[in-house]
Amino acid sequence: MSYQAEYSKSIEAPEAFWGEKAEAIAWYKQPQTILSKDDNGMDRWFADGEMNTAYLALDYHVENGRGDQAAVIYDSPVTDTKRTISYLELRDDVAKFAGVLKAQGVAKGDRVVVYMPMIPEALVAMLAVARLGAVHSVVFGGFAPHELAVRIDDAEPKVMVTASCGVEISKVIEYKPMLDQAIEKSAHKPGAVVVLQRPEAVAEMIEGRDMDWVEAVASAEPADCVPVKSTDPLYVLYTSGTTGKPKGVVRDNGSHAVALKYSMKAIYNMEPGDVFWAASDVGWVVGHSYICYGPLLAGCTTVVYEGKPIRTPDAGAFWRVCAEHKCKALFAAPTAFRAIKKEDPDAAELAKYDLSNLQTIFMAGERLDPPTYHWTVEKTGKPVVDHWWQTETGWAICGNMMGVEAKAPKPGSSTVPVPGFNVCVLDHEGNELPNGEQGNIVLKLPLPPGCLPTVWGDFERFRTSYLTEFPGYYSSGDGGYKDDDGYVFIMGRTDDVINVAGHRLSTGEMEEIVAGHDAVAECAVIGINDPLKGQEPVGLVLLKNGVDIEEDELQAELVALVRKEIGAVACFKRAIVVQRLPKTRSGKILRKLLRQIADGKEYSIPSTIDDPASLPEIEEIMGERGLVSA
Ligand code: COA
Ligand code: AMP
Repeated sequence: MSYQAEYSKSIEAPEAFWGEKAEAIAWYKQPQTILSKDDNGMDRWFADGEMNTAYLALDYHVENGRGDQAAVIYDSPVTDTKRTISYLELRDDVAKFAGVLKAQGVAKGDRVVVYMPMIPEALVAMLAVARLGAVHSVVFGGFAPHELAVRIDDAEPKVMVTASCGVEISKVIEYKPMLDQAIEKSAHKPGAVVVLQRPEAVAEMIEGRDMDWVEAVASAEPADCVPVKSTDPLYVLYTSGTTGKPKGVVRDNGSHAVALKYSMKAIYNMEPGDVFWAASDVGWVVGHSYICYGPLLAGCTTVVYEGKPIRTPDAGAFWRVCAEHKCKALFAAPTAFRAIKKEDPDAAELAKYDLSNLQTIFMAGERLDPPTYHWTVEKTGKPVVDHWWQTETGWAICGNMMGVEAKAPKPGSSTVPVPGFNVCVLDHEGNELPNGEQGNIVLKLPLPPGCLPTVWGDFERFRTSYLTEFPGYYSSGDGGYKDDDGYVFIMGRTDDVINVAGHRLSTGEMEEIVAGHDAVAECAVIGINDPLKGQEPVGLVLLKNGVDIEEDELQAELVALVRKEIGAVACFKRAIVVQRLPKTRSGKILRKLLRQIADGKEYSIPSTIDDPASLPEIEEIMGERGLVSA
């Protein structure tokens, strides 16, 4: 089928389209209702279907002859470990761990928070939760105790699962003390914590609450899969919004399984038995969809890589893993390739490896800049697919459908809308813009299967964050345009969310932390361009009257504060003192204007500005400090 035929059918007859795709998964109870409304008035898929995601990811394949096939290849240069786990072994590990959780009272609908590094046990924990029909919430290991505490209070987990430590290149990061601090800070207290002890750092256990993973599994009774409704939640994944409080993106079971299964062939051109490698982390949506669920739902082998693109041990790491495990697809953030390119511009490392099995390289998580695109294509000789998506959607909104019809790529574009996503470009009044004109990228409702139906415990926040700005559409928060061939170009966020090394962060949250410093009267945190990480946060700080503090000293304190509250992943390294910040007459800081200045873009002076003289002043300071892109 051609892309156009597939896409048109998905938009014109969504129920027929997705009803057909739903037949690809083994439901316990086949859905009769394809699209309906829930109590919030939101579109939901397959409401009367029943299934279990872990069954589809594991047991189904064991029952259908894939028991001996590798489900997971764990490759950890940082601990010098490699391990292959078959579908049968993984199914049994998951059933046993589900037994551990069940013995702690975890049942359908209960939440379990997982705070783990990139080890196979992270997948075991997620799948075990899914097996019980419970809801996991994985928190990225680079987040500090405060962030973890916020998520614990929102998700209210019955049990938490962690490991004693993670390993970042050669640094051992102890997870358990951070988890202990988070539980100390949180109002909600989980009943039990299961700890996987790793030899690199053995964690101290709290009696009566903490359990050793290995000991608990040794005496556990394997638990069966619990049937759930298609619309029951599978997980909550917190993502940065524009405020300090992260949003708990909810993913359901049935539509998620249908969407991901479809995507594995249609977008990534993967067949059962192929090896898929997403070089991300289970703490991000890419890790959920394409390290854990997607490849397993499709009967593929997934690579769990505990390492970096460089320095573990060199810039040939990605090529080694692809060659050694015969990966057919590699998926990573552009930052990773920029890091490799910086270290090994001629790709001398690449020549050492046989990449004949590698068919396609996929990139997402941030804008793929054309120089990085060209370098990767030129050096690897492989097609490079830029695809655009968000935690909220769970899978790609735009991309090149390699398993349907590969289109000619256009550097800078994430190609065309994926079937099911009706992508439109609107001006601020909600009028559709002609091709070539930049505006707000929105998705006409209904959203296809796999996308969030709500924010955990807060439908109103979901509605106001995504549905009210343009009635009838989901607002993506990204800006961009379409060209005459229907290719979509995503140019960046239109809100206060930034992307640092493919990690989504909220400048609003950083502002709250910076503003909490005793010396700070007011501040704005903006993302400035960074050649390696795409963007980097910088604080523009106004001091309180009478405060006498050296800028270097203040910067060091603010850097330490953000690191303590959000974590190292925030990469907040710079803060400068300014005399004034441009504001509206009602006192709102003109952040968009600051972003435009930092991007070196033309801007017009808004009529609402309070003090026009503040603009040239801030522009000059930002220029002097190297905060303005050429
Ligand atoms: N647990 C604990 N700490 C973590 C962590 C984790 N899982 N991941 C990152 N960190 C820490 C790092 O150790 C670093 O700490 P430091 O400031 O003490 O050095 C900090 O967070 C920033 O990490 P990172 O952004 O990864 O920077 P880096 O300089 O260590 O590495 C790259 C640079 C480009 C190699 C790296 O950013 C990278 O691989 N990027 C790709 C990102 C990606 O795959 N994103 C997924 C989205 S699809
Ligand atoms: P996350 O929710 O962490 O996946 O981040 C989603 C955001 O990352 C999007 O809203 C975009 O701003 C950005 N993003 C992801 N993929 C792309 C891409 N291919 N091109 C441009 N921006 C992207």
